[in-house]
Parts: sequence; structure tokens; C-alpha cells
Amino acid sequence: MSRNRQTYLVGGVSALGGFLFGYDTGVMSSILEMEHWKAYFNKPGSTGVGVIVAMLTAGCFVGSLFAGWLADRLSRKRTIMLACVVFSLGAAIQCGSRNRAMLIAGRFVAGLGVGVLSMAVPVFMSEIAPPNIRGRLVSLQQWAITWGLLVAFWIDYGTHFIKSDASWRIPMGIQIVPALILFVSMFFMPYTPRWLVDNGREDEALKVLARLRSGGDITDPEVVAELEDIKHAVQVDRETAVRSYIELVKFPIRRRVVLGVLIQILQQLTGINTTLYFAPTIFKQSGLTGDNASLLAQGLNGVINCLATVPAILWIDRWGRRKTLMFGSLACGISYFIQAVATGATQNKSYDENGDLNLNLPTGVSYLVIVFIYIFVASFAMSWGPIGWIYPSEIFPTRIRSKANSVTTASNWLFNFVIGLVSPILIKRITWGLDLIFALIMFASVIIVFLFFPETKNRTLEEMEFIFGGSAWAHKDKKRIAEHDATASHYVDDKEEA
Ligand code: BGC
Repeated sequence: MSRNRQTYLVGGVSALGGFLFGYDTGVMSSILEMEHWKAYFNKPGSTGVGVIVAMLTAGCFVGSLFAGWLADRLSRKRTIMLACVVFSLGAAIQCGSRNRAMLIAGRFVAGLGVGVLSMAVPVFMSEIAPPNIRGRLVSLQQWAITWGLLVAFWIDYGTHFIKSDASWRIPMGIQIVPALILFVSMFFMPYTPRWLVDNGREDEALKVLARLRSGGDITDPEVVAELEDIKHAVQVDRETAVRSYIELVKFPIRRRVVLGVLIQILQQLTGINTTLYFAPTIFKQSGLTGDNASLLAQGLNGVINCLATVPAILWIDRWGRRKTLMFGSLACGISYFIQAVATGATQNKSYDENGDLNLNLPTGVSYLVIVFIYIFVASFAMSWGPIGWIYPSEIFPTRIRSKANSVTTASNWLFNFVIGLVSPILIKRITWGLDLIFALIMFASVIIVFLFFPETKNRTLEEMEFIFGGSAWAHKDKKRIAEHDATASHYVDDKEEA
């Protein structure tokens, strides 16, 4: 811990970006149910609600696409600061909305900020981290996302008792506070050493590395060696002109882009947002009704999501990315499968006076379904949640890292959007069939990870060239990597930290 205290501090501060991400994506779901909100905006119908909800994701998508260019130009640090300003503006517009158009605009602008943060924060973290705690550091952003979701839910819960428009304006406005805290704190955070070297500011890079690793001692041999590695890797990137977007579709970067995009798409295809967003509907269908159902569904889901991220923070750099993803997929797949079988075998559909579907499950089956929803959320939180962000942030060379991550991040938002669109329809139409689809995707992803995703734990960012330089069949490439490890000295130091 002691050697990396500064790194944890700097990473922890930037994780606030994850908090904003979680808060703003979560805040709307309970607001939609608030009486004063509905009255103020003339009871938006399902299309109106759909647009209001989806606008944030659309903004995130656009924001993440721009983030790559910004993070190279302005630096990762200043990009995060800019995102805070844009986010605050969006939050202020939402809070002060006088009509639907303003609310929608506010959602979009805040989304731009969230989109930029969702790309810039993991890249910032991964570029300041030593290899042995990189997974842990990026997991902190995932943890912060889960905290954001949780806090948004409980603030909504608290303010829904207020009998005025303040009930929805407060939760929307209050998010400016963490955004400002992050903005101000970032003044005191360093630029990342990799960005500095890439911009010819090697002396500063040395000082930053010394601040992060050795209490400011610029003669520390490990600091000097790390700087040399970074300089060498950036030099190689320069010689191979890895810089423009076009490189993303060419050898040797293409393989990593495919994997980065795939991991982000699969993260969304776990169905996590279907479960988090529509849990009240699912619970209601399963026979739990009333306010308590929603509290149990979202409140408890949020707590489980948050708590179950902790093991990942502690051990992800020991477990590794491959095994954790495969375990996560298997556990998620089994949870879905059991839900599908239990619901499919016992459901007895009927519709209430509002046209809402009821599955009339036997009480025991309802509880079984609920337990497996919780097991699914916990399995996601330990695996696909953090690694979906860790992996893309660590596999690319410095000169293309932010551009590549903007593409991988944008795929996450795109699929988030698509899933948000189709889930409510499918939950109603095919009920347990949706669980089955998610189960199959999860089982398929065990095989996909096994075949194609190389292990990256404990590797320096500079070593990724080698890790991804062999066969595209990751499971067959182990011998080459083992031979390399036997001859080269690489960073294996997980005993002390993890
Ligand atoms: C995902 C989000 C999701 C959140 C839940 C993130 O990693 O990208 O879409 O809502 O985890 O914790």
C-alpha cells in the first residue's frame, strides 16, 4: 500500500467520474414515477418517457466518440475537467427545466459529459497505475458507478416524499456538487506520465512517476526504468506511426479493437441494465407488488451491486481477467437459466386492469427468481462490471489508446441504448424467453473469452505489444508467452499488493 499511496489517492479522486456516471444514469428511473414530475411535464406517455431516458445514452454515445480526440489534444486530466463542466451544465439545465424540450436537452448535455468521463477516467487510471494494481484502480471507477446508482436511488427515495417540484429538481441539481468537487480536485492531480512522454514532456513525466511511486525521488531505479520503458514504447509507436483512426482497422491494432469492442458489447449483453432498470417490473410480474417491491428490487439490487464489486477491487489483479470473466459468465448464465426454467414451467399469464402482465408464479418460485436475480447482479459486479472497463483501457499502445477507447466505449453506450429499447418489449412479450437468450449469450461468452482474450494481469502497458503480437487464438498462445516470461523480466509483484 505505502509505495502506491499517491497512486490510490489520484485514482480515487478520478473515480468520482464514475460516481457521476452512475448517479446520472440512475437518477431518472425513480423520478419517472414521481407525481410532481408527471404533473409538471403533462404525464409523458411511453414514447415521451423513452425519449427522455434514451437522450442521456445518446449524449453518452456522442460524448465518448469525441473523448478520444479530446484526451489526446487536451490531456486525459483536462478532458476530465472539461467533462465536469459540461456535465454540470447538463445537470443545471435538467434541474431548472421549464418544459420537456429543456429537460431532454439537459439530459443530452449531461450525457455528453458522462460519455467523455466514461472513456477518459479508465484511461487516466490505467496510465497512472503500476501493473500490479491497475485492475484494482480501474475497478474503483466501477465501484464509484455502483455508488452513484445507489445514492441516486436513495436520494430519489428521500425526496419523493416532498410534496412539490423540489422532489425531482433536488436529485437532478445535487449532482453538480460531486462534479464541482472532481473539477477542483483535478487541478491538483498530475497529467499521466504516458501522455506527457507522448507530448515530449519527459522531465515532467519523471517527476509525476516519482510523485506516484517513490515519494518524489526522481533517482529511484524503478521510476527511472519505468520512464525508459514508456519512452521506448512511445518511440516504437512513433516509428510505426500508430496515431490516426485508420490504424484502428489495420494490423496490429485491429485485433485489440475487435476484443475491446466485443468486451464492451458483451458487458451490455449480460443484461445488467435490463435487470437493474426493470427489476421492479420483473418483481411485480413475479408476484411482489407495492412500494416494497420496488424498494426491494432496486434498493437491494443496488446494495448488492456495490458490495459485490469489492472482491474485484481486492483480488482482480490476482484472479486475472480471463478466469474472472469466464467465471462471471458461467454464474450469470446459470442464474438466467434457472430463472428461465422456473418461470417457464410455472407461469400462468394474466393481465390486470391497466394492461400490465402478471405471471402469477407460485410464491416459492417468485422467491427463487428473486434470489437468482441477486446472484446474477453479484456475479456481474465481480466480473464483467469492472473488467468491461479495465480491459480496453490497458490493451492499446499509448499513442492510440484514447482513440481506441473512445470507439470501445461508444460501443458500450450503443448497446446500452439498444438493450434499453428492446428489453421492455421483450420482458412483456416473451417473459422467460429473454432470460434464456441472456443465458445463451453468457454461455457463449465463456467460450469466446477462452478462445480469444489473452490474460493481461500484471503486464506493463508497454508489454501489451508482445501479448497481442501472437496468434489470435489466445488459448493456443500460452507457450510463446511462457517462453518470453522465462527470458524477459516483467513486472510480477502481486504478492505485496493484491
Ligand atoms: C455498465 C453500466 C451499468 C453499471 C452497473 C457499468 O459497468 O457499463 O451500463 O449500469 O455497470 O453497475
